[in-house]
Amino acid sequence: MMRKLDDCYQLNNGVQIPIVGFGTWQTPGGEVAVSSVKEAIKAGYRHIDTAAFYGNEESVGQAIKESGIDRKDLFITTKLWNSDHGYEAALKACAASLERLQLDYLDLYLIHWPNPIRFRDQFEKVNAETWKAMEKIYKDGKTKAIGISNYMPHHIEATLKNAETVPAVNQIRLYPGFIQEETVRYCKEKGILIQAYSPLGTGSMLEVKELRELTEKYHKTVAQICLRWSLQMGFLPLPKSVTPARIQENADIFDFELSEKDVQNLASMKNYGGAGFNPDTASF
Ligand code: A2P
Repeated sequence: MMRKLDDCYQLNNGVQIPIVGFGTWQTPGGEVAVSSVKEAIKAGYRHIDTAAFYGNEESVGQAIKESGIDRKDLFITTKLWNSDHGYEAALKACAASLERLQLDYLDLYLIHWPNPIRFRDQFEKVNAETWKAMEKIYKDGKTKAIGISNYMPHHIEATLKNAETVPAVNQIRLYPGFIQEETVRYCKEKGILIQAYSPLGTGSMLEVKELRELTEKYHKTVAQICLRWSLQMGFLPLPKSVTPARIQENADIFDFELSEKDVQNLASMKNYGGAGFNPDTASF
């Protein structure tokens, strides 16, 4: 376990998922997305994370086609955007994502946010319908697994009330000093794997003193320490970069191990990265 990029965690439905994913949030569609995703695949990443909202699914699809790697050897995630909640809309949105990605199936399809502003006055009802659609997409073989993103325990609780299928993952914002403890604990109890987006605090961790101090001890960069920490916490980090040297650097995290004490210290470090959006009050 945890010796290389394409080692896997097992999801609650038995599907294998590579323990590090290549993030593409804030990667502009077009040449930058195509070349960085190809670079990542060349560097050994087999798990790519995109979303309808990122506006780069077409480019991710093109990179996959041009990578020369068999589709079955890649793990591709995309996400349902907030405007597409509800049963019929979700089915359509999934079909549109598949078309943009030029794929016949996904490995993982996620609801991007639990509580879009547009449906906020009827969250439980619309969320239940959306999850029904996710289950249909799963049963129809359009995806190997389904999950959620940015869900807090009360959103998951509501989802499980009517669910036939327990979400396989919850993808949330997580990095040293910002560990969403309650959500993580709740997901562990339910067998839901935690994926960590912004594992470098969208870059804000790079200058943090506590982390800089560890670079000398471990002879690794701050980014590598953050990613290793995420793995040792049992999370699945999704580092984003469009820079070839950094894409390589973020993959080179298997030749060292943080001490248990350092893992705990980083978990309880002050939060230097901001909290992100609250799903129940966000303006989208
Ligand atoms: P860039 O994409 O220009 O290379 P996160 O994954 O937490 O969202 O962080 C992404 C941000 O961190 C991006 O701005 C990315 O820049 C930057 N970044 C990614 N990897 C590294 C690294 N190894 N060293 C420094 N900055 C990095």
